[in-house]
Amino acid sequence: MTILGIESSCDETSAAVVKDGTVLSNVISSQLVHTKYGGVVPELASRAHQRMILEVVQEALTTAGCAREDLTGIAATHGPGLVGALLVGLNFGKAMAYALNIPFVGVNHMEGHLYSNLLTPPVHDFPFLALVVSGGHTMLVHVTAPFEHRVLGQTRDDAAGEAFDKVAKMLGLGYPGGPKIDAAGKAGNPKAIRFPRTWLERDGFDFSFSGIKTAVLYHVRDNGLPATPEGMNDLCASFQDAVVDVLVEKTINAARTTGVKDVTVAGGVSANSRLRNRLKEECGKNGFRLFHPPMAYCMDNGAMIAYVGWMKLTSGKASPLTLPAVAALELA
Ligand code: KG4
Ligand code: ZN
Repeated sequence: MTILGIESSCDETSAAVVKDGTVLSNVISSQLVHTKYGGVVPELASRAHQRMILEVVQEALTTAGCAREDLTGIAATHGPGLVGALLVGLNFGKAMAYALNIPFVGVNHMEGHLYSNLLTPPVHDFPFLALVVSGGHTMLVHVTAPFEHRVLGQTRDDAAGEAFDKVAKMLGLGYPGGPKIDAAGKAGNPKAIRFPRTWLERDGFDFSFSGIKTAVLYHVRDNGLPATPEGMNDLCASFQDAVVDVLVEKTINAARTTGVKDVTVAGGVSANSRLRNRLKEECGKNGFRLFHPPMAYCMDNGAMIAYVGWMKLTSGKASPLTLPAVAALELA
């Protein structure tokens, strides 16, 4: 089976070809138009997807050495995300499937992230415990078999990536903030400023990141922005440490509770070096195997959508062409 996957839920227009479970191409066009606004502007995102979609899909096919007629199925993200942005990729995928008379399948964006560690070796086993951390979501999911999963906990307010982006904006570091805080944090002292950790119920699996964001706001209000690059590095490292501490402790607790051997991390924030290092350390100490995707599969990408599309179509799960875009689609 040769599947074209299309992703357009937020500010990345992406398309990829997966053949029998192997990624042949993965083209990602990141929208730079949002940078000056310090966050994604939904209407601009939709327009940028419309401008780029044809070129991105064509490049994905060319790189894969594949003609349209070689495709045996098309997958597209149908939620969650910005509805106008979703509609561009979803309608493009449906129209193409209709024209080529091949099956279409809608993919939940979070399923894309959830299974993104299956795209490249080494591959984890089932069951596994996944920490999915992105700009829109923070969740711990226990996956017992393909498409058999239970969400153990999620954020009650801001997603982890959202907290990174908002704090970076506050500090004048620009958008997207995650990579900027990560880079500054590498050179800083994570113990320089003691920011609070929000545990909610200590043995529960829900998260809250709005408190840490407010703590940074109050710190800046009372002390001003750091006057030196070293001060900025320390502030970033200290904020990052507070977020990472909670993510890591709850992930390890969830892995212990579910009795899994394998732990995966996915989504944009899984690119964070401090998170990766701390998870590696703690998984090592506790006897869990840790898996994280290569950078191109951490961020939003068409490959993870094509891959889940392939998993679904090989098990007979096609979607009708009436499938709607759903902004708040749950991980069912
Ligand atoms: O998965 P993703 O590309 O899009 C969503 O589905 O939201 O995640 C984007 C998020 C942004 O909030 C971005 O700041 C964050 O991932 N991010 C990072 C890093 N790289 C991207 N956060 C922390 N450290 C990073 N290195
Ligand atoms: Zn995402």
